[in-house]
Formats: sequence, structure tokens, C-alpha cells
Amino acid sequence: MTAVSLVPVPASTLFGRHLLEVTDLRTEELARLLALARYLKVQGRGEQRTLLRDRTLAMLFEKPSLRTRVSFEVAMTQLGGDVLFAQGAEFMIGTRETPEDAARVLSRYVDAIVVRTHAHEPLQRFASAADVPVVNALSARAHPCQALSDMLTLQERFGDIRGLRVAYAGDARNNVAASLAEAAVMLGATVHFGCPPTHRPSESYLAKLDALGAKSGGSARAFSNAVRAVRGADVVYTDVWTSMGEERYRERNDAMLRPYAVTEELFSYAKATAIFMHCLPAHRGEETVAAVIDGPRSAVFDQAENRMHAQKALLVALLTEMKGLPV
Ligand code: CP
Repeated sequence: MTAVSLVPVPASTLFGRHLLEVTDLRTEELARLLALARYLKVQGRGEQRTLLRDRTLAMLFEKPSLRTRVSFEVAMTQLGGDVLFAQGAEFMIGTRETPEDAARVLSRYVDAIVVRTHAHEPLQRFASAADVPVVNALSARAHPCQALSDMLTLQERFGDIRGLRVAYAGDARNNVAASLAEAAVMLGATVHFGCPPTHRPSESYLAKLDALGAKSGGSARAFSNAVRAVRGADVVYTDVWTSMGEERYRERNDAMLRPYAVTEELFSYAKATAIFMHCLPAHRGEETVAAVIDGPRSAVFDQAENRMHAQKALLVALLTEMKGLPV
């Protein structure tokens, strides 16, 4: 594992802002957040117990979660704040009242709001009316908190993300793939999607990724041949074939995406030093196999742990002006 710099960098330009997509961040802000996450990860827990004292985080989830819910709750608790959680019928964005009304009310009670929702557009309406930071904890379009954790994991494993080749095999149009690719190209990686035409990002989206990576040297391409996408990669990433809320497409997805499963054979086309990544939960025997996800080159549990460290950094950056941190 390559040592990473532990010099914390101020992320105070994020104070009071929302994070709905990775592209809400400038590249320098993304890099600063990751530096703060690395700092907080090695800082003693006792030293961070007052960073968010007297702050309350509301977590409102329309969909199930293990990692996102628990990692945010533990992060907020370790930073000295309080958390309240509502899910299902208690919070369905835009059903009992408009997203705007719900956001205005909640802004009178809490200091930040983390939302897991189905459609992205009601979340945008919610955030536009909120007076406190709103964080997307997964919507149909994006999963930016997962991408923060993924980038932190890549920095820990490789040191510098610039120049890495990241292969994503499977549904290249899903939220995890989008946020991963956006963060990776912003930090200078090349992203190769391996996917059938039915699950291929649009040409305009690929062009957007190239534009996002223009300054740092990042770029993106899509291949219908899985081996071509994975060959020579430093990282092979996959996710479940059918996202939450898309169950009606399960049969079609299983048929279309099976050639893109990260089996031992497909993984063997990556570099010998390549790592395997998955946001979890995983379906062993579908998008990947036990020999890969449980193998020595799997980083999936580091990714899961890093959700907490990355989200600590995010909460501190959105809710404070970084006072008390050695910045
Ligand atoms: N990766 C992720 O978001 O996991 P959960 O759905 O369990 O929160």
C-alpha cells in the first residue's frame, strides 16, 4: 500500500453548500475533501468528538440501506453531533407535501439533511428550497458519497489517481458508475466502461466526462467487448445489474449483462496488481464471483469503511469553517 500525504487542506469553500452530484464540486474541492478524509481517518477519535457538537443531522431514506445509513450515523456520532432517521412512509419526498415545503420545515429543525431517494429531480427541488446543506445519499442519477469513498480507497492503494485505468463492467448508466466516472476523470484517471449497447452511456455523457477530465488528463471510453474494457486496467469495478427501484428490468438486465460479469477469467485481463472494487451490496454469482470479491485483491471492505471517513470530511466541510483543525 502506498503512503499518502496526511497534510490537511481547508475545505471551507464547501461551508453551507449542498452535495447532490460529484460535479457540484470543483476538482480542487474534491481533492481537499479527500485530504481532509485522510486526516480524519488517522486522527484520534477523542480529538474529533467536538467538531460537530450541538449539530443535528436528519437522514431521510426512501430506500433501504446498510452502509450509507450506518456510516453517516457513526460519523456524526463520533464527531459529537446527533442524528435522526426516518424512512419509508414517514418520508417519501413530494408525497405528503411538496419537496419545497418539506425542505423549508426541516431547515428550521436541523443543521443538515441526508436524503436517499428514487428520482433525482424532486431531490433537486428539495435542495433548492433548503436553508441547510442537503447531501444526496443515492438517487437514480448519482451516488456521490460512494464516489468519495471510492476515490479515498484509490488514493490509499495507489497514492495518485492521475494516470490510473479504471474499468467499470456492467450497467454503465447507473448512479454508481456515473459518480465513480465523474470523480475518477476529475482526478486524472482513464475510465473504460465495458457494457452492452443497452447499458452504454450516451455519447454526450462520454463527452461530458472527457470535458470534466480535460485539465487533469482524465477521459472515458465505452467498449461492448468486456475484455477490451478490462485489459491492462488498474481497477476493475462492478455493481449489481439491477438497481433499487428498477426490478422490472431484472430479467432483461441478467441476460444483457452476463457477459460483463467480473469472473476470475475477466479479472485476469487486468494488471496483475489490479484491485477489484464494488460498492456493495453484491450478488455473488451474478455481477461477480466469490473468488474475486473475497480474493486478496478485493478492496470492497476498505471501500465500505471509507464511506465513514469520507462522510466525516463532508459533514465537517459542509457544517463548519474548519476551525480547530490544523489547516
Ligand atoms: N453502497 C451503498 O450505498 O450501500 P447501502 O445501499 O447499503 O447504503
